[in-house]
Amino acid sequence: MAIRVVYFSWKGHTEKVAIALAKLLDAELIQIEPVRDCGMAGKAMKALFRMKSPIKPIKTDLTGVDTLVIASPVWAGRVPAYVNKYLDSVTGGSGKPFHVIVEMGGRGDQSAIAVVRKALEHKGMKFVSSASTIEKDVDSGSFMGTIEKFAAGIRKQ
Ligand SMILES: Cc1cc2nc3c(=O)[nH]c(=O)nc-3n(C[C@H](O)[C@H](O)[C@H](O)COP(=O)(O)O)c2cc1C
Repeated sequence: MAIRVVYFSWKGHTEKVAIALAKLLDAELIQIEPVRDCGMAGKAMKALFRMKSPIKPIKTDLTGVDTLVIASPVWAGRVPAYVNKYLDSVTGGSGKPFHVIVEMGGRGDQSAIAVVRKALEHKGMKFVSSASTIEKDVDSGSFMGTIEKFAAGIRKQ
């Protein structure tokens, strides 16, 4: 099964999660990179209003990919505008399954997952599972149990 893990990370926590997950799944790992950064208020406002911000060229075509996993930080109970931009650019996903994992300070995971879910279901993709990690657990390393359980569910699908 060809699995692609696509992630965005500003401070490195989601990156740590995505790298661990991709290793467990033997998956392709792709990073969403912004064209330019903006201030904290802009980050939160753009996330809140589900706006899109430009990202560097990235593989968006899912031809040959069986399963997509999106890993994103929670920003303002949503996902970063760079993630919205990626989700909007995805092609070739109709009928394919996807999973979502979000990384947060402590609240807003379900609404963030819902944003990703809505965007990919709009493309005809099929939501299968989701998980959340918390910043302090990623810092301490105790997040691995969550990742292992999530990865096992993805493999079983
Ligand atoms: C603009 C902004 C908004 C955020 N909003 C939330 C939030 O609504 N809920 C939450 O639990 N954490 C929130 N956070 C914290 C991040 O989700 C958390 O620090 C996460 O670990 C960041 O992942 P990263 O290190 O991959 O960038 C926010 C962080 C930023 C920068």
